Amino acid sequence: MVENNYTTDDAGIPVPSDERSLTVGADGPILLHDAYLIEKMAAFNRERVPERQPHAKGGGAFGTFEVTGDVSAFTLADLFQPGKKTEMLARFSTVAGERGSPDTWRDPRGFALKFYTEQGNFDMVGNNTPVFFMRDPMKFQDFIRSQKRRADNNLRDHDMQWDFWTLSPESAHQVTWLMGDRGIPRTWRHMNGYSSHTYMWMNAAGEKFWVKYHFITDQGIEFFTQDEGDQMASIDTDYHLRDLWEHIEQGDYPSWTLKMQIMPFEDAKTYRFNPFDLTKVWPHADYPLVEVGKMTLNRNPSNYHTEIEQGAFEPSNAVPGTGPSPDKMLLGRWFSYPDSHRHRIGANYKELPVNRPHATTVRSYSKDGHMRHENPGDPVYVPNSKGGPHADPAVAGEPIGWYSDGDMVRQAYTLRQDDDDWGQAGTMVRDVLDDAARGRLVDNIVGHLLNGVSEPVLARAFEYWRNVDKDLGDKVAQGVRVKKDQLDPKAAGQDNPSRRSAREKA
Ligand code: NDP
Ligand code: HEM
Repeated sequence: MVENNYTTDDAGIPVPSDERSLTVGADGPILLHDAYLIEKMAAFNRERVPERQPHAKGGGAFGTFEVTGDVSAFTLADLFQPGKKTEMLARFSTVAGERGSPDTWRDPRGFALKFYTEQGNFDMVGNNTPVFFMRDPMKFQDFIRSQKRRADNNLRDHDMQWDFWTLSPESAHQVTWLMGDRGIPRTWRHMNGYSSHTYMWMNAAGEKFWVKYHFITDQGIEFFTQDEGDQMASIDTDYHLRDLWEHIEQGDYPSWTLKMQIMPFEDAKTYRFNPFDLTKVWPHADYPLVEVGKMTLNRNPSNYHTEIEQGAFEPSNAVPGTGPSPDKMLLGRWFSYPDSHRHRIGANYKELPVNRPHATTVRSYSKDGHMRHENPGDPVYVPNSKGGPHADPAVAGEPIGWYSDGDMVRQAYTLRQDDDDWGQAGTMVRDVLDDAARGRLVDNIVGHLLNGVSEPVLARAFEYWRNVDKDLGDKVAQGVRVKKDQLDPKAAGQDNPSRRSAREKA
């Protein structure tokens, strides 16, 4: 192998110039047989892959996950066995904004993790919130569109956000959380990560458990107020990205302690609300947190495109001892992510260094396709008697799953005693927040509603908040009316026309 330090083209051929195209005389036309110029222009035109549909703006780093507790009674997964250390990758993100959007907008934050385990890659694609806006994947696409840009004027529009939320009462818990202090984390280091979903664990004896993952920040929770977030958005759109990068560069490695909530398999049948409903948490008093280990981020990427942009996280990367639950959202996601990656990165995205296993080998029967460079060779089929790999159920673990039977229907989960849309949101407002946090919650909601939300959505929003908590709803309604009157005294008691959406004016 020849080591060189001169510029080559992508075939390794030395190029004659970094700066000058080949022309007929100094003043003449450029020649088409300047293959290096053509390659340079063509490569540039193809530099971008499509950004992620949601979660486009983000950043990440590599690190280590080390097990400090003992949960071997609950899972056989190699990465959770006592003392185990596993290389991992994290990517944090906002949800709705495009790839260049400010880090400090109010939004949930993605908390996506990939663990390179000896049983293959395990991905935990969570958020910094323990719940979500809906409980059926049929509504996810509409929800994301309501957060993005309108079809006509290409503007983001709070009116459509609140239209969707107020017509989807199951969103109340997540929207309460979003409008509260944690809706703008101070940095990615100062937020927790949650699986949000219930997953399944299975131990070596084949016993199954329902679990929720909580990655609790060791830096402590810190947040920006709305004003601080707004100011930072104009000073440094990449504040969170920069913060993570600089702290890792300085050797100040952020860490999170993984704690689990673990529910015995049979409890799920009789628990007072459906434990698979993504709009609800499991109260700590019912299922206390069990410490598992610590994740530390200690290595910045060396190339953002190949290691972060082309990083492909998918809930369906579940190693033996882990698996899905009957959460309908989670099952929707099981399909959606690999599908997105095939579109966004390409059919063979799992061959890329960031996405391939680092601690085991791939012996699959996937074959060919765009850009594949590692074909296993013959035999190309199974079963075979030619020395190819054969599935080993003992290594894969018992089939992980649950029993299910019934008519085909389209409905939310069967209602139980404590299944409602408002209860846990109300508990957060009344029992978790203090007076100052409740005050900021009111201010944040009022500010958001004043930004282009019109009747009849506004009236529905007041009702929505009264359903969460009567006093909160009254204060929101009063705050909006007072501010509207101040903005436009002539329109007292009416909608402020200057704030109406373009569609309404038309
Ligand atoms: P707990 O009093 O045991 O838990 C309350 C939890 O609320 C805290 O542990 C903390 O979660 C979280 N929290 C504290 N301040 C805020 C805030 N400003 N915004 C959002 N979350 C905050 O009671 P329960 O477990 O019975 O839960 C009561 C309510 O707390 C729930 O209805 C839910 O709204 C909220 N909550 C519950 C969580 C859970 O998994 N049980 C997780 C997060 C919120 P953490 O320790 O994870 O930081
Ligand atoms: C990203 C779909 C719900 C967390 C994405 C992407 C899609 C998607 C298509 C882009 C993937 C890519 O191109 O790389 C869905 C669907 C959902 C859903 C269909 C519901 C049915 C959720 C929930 C969470 C979540 C509930 C958290 C608990 C994330 C994160 C990312 C993401 C963190 C970014 C991953 C990364 O950093 O690459 N989602 N999502 N999503 N989603 Fe979801």
